[in-house]
Amino acid sequence: MKSDPKIQVPDGLDLNAIPTHVAFIMDGNGRWAKKRLMNRVKGHEQGAQTVKEVVTACRELGIDVLTLYAFSTENWARPKEEVKALMYLLKRFLRNETEELREKDIRLNIMGQIERLPDDVRKEAEQAMAATEKNSAMILNLAISYGAREEITRAVQQIAAKIRSGALDDKDITDKTISDHLYTAGMPDPDLIIRTSAEFRLSNFLMWQAAYSELAFTPTLWPDFTRQEFYQILIDYQQRDRRFGKV
Ligand code: FPP
Repeated sequence: MKSDPKIQVPDGLDLNAIPTHVAFIMDGNGRWAKKRLMNRVKGHEQGAQTVKEVVTACRELGIDVLTLYAFSTENWARPKEEVKALMYLLKRFLRNETEELREKDIRLNIMGQIERLPDDVRKEAEQAMAATEKNSAMILNLAISYGAREEITRAVQQIAAKIRSGALDDKDITDKTISDHLYTAGMPDPDLIIRTSAEFRLSNFLMWQAAYSELAFTPTLWPDFTRQEFYQILIDYQQRDRRFGKV
């Protein structure tokens, strides 16, 4: 997608070499709140503001796919009150931002175990996806109750079922067969995965799709992450030499 001609971008950022798919591991909300002697939920609330800013920035830059790790399969084990607050924030985001997503021509895709979500959140998610399904300028993947191991396990189960029914021959299984059964089926792999808050792990995020992704880490806590810092990470990304295993 072409970038918005009206945007003000810093020197050094090449708008003709913007990555196609950018993914974020949004980390550090809890520490952001703790530093301010606040409840962790306040950090998530502030983090939701950063989400809005990053979605807007990506759309303006002409990024085709933005994937945000909002809630992992492991996050269900957090204290009940925190899980409840995160579910509430997700529901509020889905309800309040759908109109904006429509206006910006952004298609929302929830990736993860949507069936595990509380009924009200699942309904809101389904409505938001339906309301934006015809949009085509950008895909916003919200990874909710997402884990790469669950995603790959689910793909293997689906492929096995196709073999059992005779719809697929095991000799025809290729890389693409696996990719086509992931939540990101039909989408390009992430070019760039950014993790905030000085943690250097993938944490069960896009493990298949990240095979050749460039990784960027910043000590900034997610609620403090700004568009300016994002631009700088993109400038650094544009200096990298991506060889995909070749010379
Ligand atoms: C990690 O910080 C963040 C999460 C587990 C949740 C991410 C959620 C949001 C950014 C807000 C809601 C999302 C949307 C899409 C509206 P952490 O709690 O693990 O931080 P810590 O490592 O400092 O404790």
